[in-house]
Amino acid sequence: MRILSGLQPSGRLHIGNFFGMMEPALKLQHEGDAYYFIADYHSLTSVHDGKALRGYVRELAVDFLACGLDPTKCVFFRQSDVPEHTELSWILSTVTPMGLLERCHSYKDKIANGISASHGLFAYPVLMAADILLYESDVVPVGRDQKQHVEVTRDIAIKMNETFGAGLFKLPNPRIQESTAVVPGLDGQKMSKSYDNTIPLFAPRPELKKLIAGIKTDSRAPGEAKSTEGSALFQIYQAFASAEETAAFAQDFANGIAWGDAKDRLFERIDFEIAPMRARYEWLMAHPQEVEVMLHAGAAKARAVATPFMARLRQAVGLRSLATATTRGPAKAAKAAAASFKQYREKDGQFYFKLVDAKGALLLQSLGLDSPQAAGKAIALLKAQGAGALAELQPLLAPFDAQHAPLLQALHALSTPAE
Ligand code: AMP
Ligand code: TRP
Repeated sequence: MRILSGLQPSGRLHIGNFFGMMEPALKLQHEGDAYYFIADYHSLTSVHDGKALRGYVRELAVDFLACGLDPTKCVFFRQSDVPEHTELSWILSTVTPMGLLERCHSYKDKIANGISASHGLFAYPVLMAADILLYESDVVPVGRDQKQHVEVTRDIAIKMNETFGAGLFKLPNPRIQESTAVVPGLDGQKMSKSYDNTIPLFAPRPELKKLIAGIKTDSRAPGEAKSTEGSALFQIYQAFASAEETAAFAQDFANGIAWGDAKDRLFERIDFEIAPMRARYEWLMAHPQEVEVMLHAGAAKARAVATPFMARLRQAVGLRSLATATTRGPAKAAKAAAASFKQYREKDGQFYFKLVDAKGALLLQSLGLDSPQAAGKAIALLKAQGAGALAELQPLLAPFDAQHAPLLQALHALSTPAE
């Protein structure tokens, strides 16, 4: 299972972001092949201050790591280090109906909140679709307000498959953690930067205390029973607490806990949860170089997936090399197409593959590989990219003549879908 999610670097991570996306996503990191990234191309739709953006990227990278992202387990990267995202976005945009984007709530909300209506903001969901589809993602953990974007992604993938070939794109599924799908802010509305009602996750203790003191409550006096229903204070507590703790807190509400005491309890609960993460946050904020190294390594891993995917897609849509797009007669092409890959295991226990022509003459021979999957992957790459994959695969192959015409023709025929 491939899991993928991203966050825009656009300010301090708040408790709503944490429970809506960060925590559910990080819980999944050990359940599959996880890809998490910093969506900095996306932030350009609302942040036009280079210095500020750089600061936000650094902060968000640290947030991910402090919240428990394990960069040895997942592929953790910065979107703009993988330019394939924007290339794919362009190709997707050529089949995306305007109406599909016109219906997006997020676009309408952002304009209502004063972000200027640029083409980039309108096309935002197409770039998000590219993020998701590029890695053939199965599951996309997001907050509820991003669900529509994942649905748009599915629609775009369907359209691409109809247009350029079934099976080119995999349809992703959103995953929403319902219990914390909408975390309320200080005033009881959805916690959001645009409402200025957030609690930043890594707020220093005095700031945290002050913010919690400002949570809106009703005017019931100490000793009077209080309703948990509609209480932002209670819901924020619930997001952090276990079922037992929540039940005990509800009982305290029924028993008439004073609001001041309830706020102290919330502060202690949050601080208990955040203290260990805060230490890591502070260390990482002081060591940006270490963070940069991790992002760099992540980008290399991401590109190892993104580049072959785009090579395949470029072939499918017709962005192909003229040198290999021959106009040979059908007889000759058919003969080349009759070449095939054979996979087998030798007495040495290792796995091999070779490419042979119609008569069984050897065209390409692999070295011994650890697994049949490794052989399968190399074959898939050759079928996707033709001779373009030879350079990358050279370490796995017995010496060959890269100019050998029958080899090049066979690879070309195998990598070109029947017209
Ligand atoms: P945003 O800060 O609006 O860009 O959202 C980033 C991520 O956090 C998205 O997956 C949102 O769905 C999620 N999110 C933002 N605010 C909340 C909230 N108040 N409750 C739950 N999830 C949220
Ligand atoms: N649009 C998302 C948000 O605002 C961020 C994002 C960009 C994203 N690309 C993505 C989330 C791909 C999941 C998958 O939170």
